[in-house]
Amino acid sequence: MSVRPAQAPDLAPLARLWWQGWRDAYLPLVPKALAARRTLDSFIDRMALALPRVRTLGPVGAPLGFHLIKDDELNQLYVDEEYRGAGIATMLTVDAEARLLDAGVTTAWLACPIGNARAARFCQKTGWTLARAQTIPTEIPGGWYPLKIWRYEKPLTQPSPWADRAEDELSGPSLSHGEREGPAAKRWEGERVRPLQ
Ligand SMILES: CC(C)(COP(=O)(O)OP(=O)(O)OC[C@H]1O[C@@H](n2cnc3c(N)ncnc32)[C@H](O)[C@@H]1OP(=O)(O)O)[C@@H](O)C(=O)NCCC(=O)NCCS
Repeated sequence: MSVRPAQAPDLAPLARLWWQGWRDAYLPLVPKALAARRTLDSFIDRMALALPRVRTLGPVGAPLGFHLIKDDELNQLYVDEEYRGAGIATMLTVDAEARLLDAGVTTAWLACPIGNARAARFCQKTGWTLARAQTIPTEIPGGWYPLKIWRYEKPLTQPSPWADRAEDELSGPSLSHGEREGPAAKRWEGERVRPLQ
């Protein structure tokens, strides 16, 4: 399995994955005024606009996660909750970093919601450094909302030292996580998740 461009059949499942992941990551941490604007429809609209720049992995129409780059920012990184802990996020991050590097970015950044310990731990273990807390404008229907975040940064090198780690994680014991039955596994049209290559 490799990271690939998102396709039209991925739109609806990616929007739902994004919506669900946003609720997991942000809902307990952000003001109600922002949460109220993060409807499933809003994610469908945003994903429809972003789709040509989104990279994902998994079968077409049943994506397991995605990333989205914006200028020098790893703007979005989400993994289906059924597949977290299985190395998917590392694989997506390696792909995102390679693309940022190809675009001439030497130091990338990403925004992590303040208090999202899992995302912060993921950033830390993949070589991102907490630069500072800051307030950034986050897109909402019809405008922008000021959101306090932890800004993580990473100097990029070629080749990414995380490429090897992605390979290890995907072929190691953690793969059994991805083999378990679950809603996402069912989306493989009856196929079980195969060893990733
Ligand atoms: C962030 C995300 C992409 C990371 O992918 P993942 O598959 O969950 O990442 P991993 O499991 O490889 O790494 C998470 C780490 O956090 C640890 N962790 C899990 N829950 C934790 C918690 N409540 N507190 C602290 N650490 C936690 C895990 O043990 C793991 O660390 P380890 O490998 O040292 O054991 C994924 O969790 C996700 O989609 N979350 C929702 C959306 C989101 O937060 N996006 C990122 C915004 S910056």
